[in-house]
Amino acid sequence: MQLDFPWLLHRLGATEFQNEKSDSSAKCIYLSIRLDTFTFGSKGEIMNLADQILKLKREKNAIILAHNYQRPEIQDIADYLGDSIELSRKAMEEKDAKIIVFSAVDFMAESAAILNPEKKVLLPTPGARCPMAQMLTVEEIKRSKSRHPRTPIVLYVNTLAAAKAQCDVCCTSANAVEVVSSLKGDTVLFGPDRNLAEYVQRKTGKTVIPVPDWGFCPTHVLFQPEDIKILKMQYPEAAVMVHPECTFETQKMADFIGSTSQMCKFAKESAAETFIVGTEEGILHRLKKDNPSKKFVLAYEGAVCPNMKLNTLERVYTSLKEEKHVVTVPKPIAKQARKALDKMFELT
Ligand code: 13P
Ligand code: SF4
Repeated sequence: MQLDFPWLLHRLGATEFQNEKSDSSAKCIYLSIRLDTFTFGSKGEIMNLADQILKLKREKNAIILAHNYQRPEIQDIADYLGDSIELSRKAMEEKDAKIIVFSAVDFMAESAAILNPEKKVLLPTPGARCPMAQMLTVEEIKRSKSRHPRTPIVLYVNTLAAAKAQCDVCCTSANAVEVVSSLKGDTVLFGPDRNLAEYVQRKTGKTVIPVPDWGFCPTHVLFQPEDIKILKMQYPEAAVMVHPECTFETQKMADFIGSTSQMCKFAKESAAETFIVGTEEGILHRLKKDNPSKKFVLAYEGAVCPNMKLNTLERVYTSLKEEKHVVTVPKPIAKQARKALDKMFELT
């Protein structure tokens, strides 16, 4: 199936689609089933499991870092909850713990392993892989670099380590504008998210060439401006906040565009009482917990990242108990990728 309207195909339940311009190795297969985000087990069982994890954590000198999209019961036992830049920083600066359980997806845990190689980094579910990160191959980067030889290449952290090793500097959605602005010259190569690339181009006024020219997040492209228009009729006073991985049409509807943690900050500081939220549904748990008197409405109720949701309390427990699913990055790749991550921390 050709990738003309990925969000539509996804909504219709396509399980496999491919862009004819992409490498066959970049072919992306998606889980399009709606994975329920309800908690497995009774309240008592969850508390029991959570207690056992906390006990294991103390015995093994481990910490749990969890992304803002994780299931509520994982968020509740995490030592630190955050967006990708915050979690990378935490992982890099961690001194005491011997084990870091990184409850998120592959590229985030890989970054932790690169930034703090002394620690044992565990990804509770090895299959929790970000499809966007799979969209950018090393071959595609090399092709783009040969077409634009003197142009710096900035890669979103939502990439695999081997791709990061090929770039000049990394960025996250929280600092992409700052990173691109700080580079000399008025043109950059940027991948893999086309929507973020276009957002950065609008914000910086530079020419941002997307690599590949079709990269996207299958969850964020589900948000449609029509859904927000309808919700605005229902909640006319609501503030709209969306992630820059949403399409430009959706971004145009927003009062605030930012990373997941930047959205949490905006919700806390804003005078608005109701918020229409354009990012993965897991963030609602944190938003509601931090702001009990405010109302949060998901802009599209099917906006679930199936990969983020693969992590469950049971899997966190088993991975910590058996110290399994250790994330490792080959040394030469880690060394090069580290340079690109360090450069990002230097610039922001
Ligand atoms: P944040 O860095 O904003 O948390 O985003 C990560 C991500 O994967 C968004 O889909
Ligand atoms: Fe990747 Fe999108 Fe899931 Fe974020 S929400 S991890 S970009 S698929």
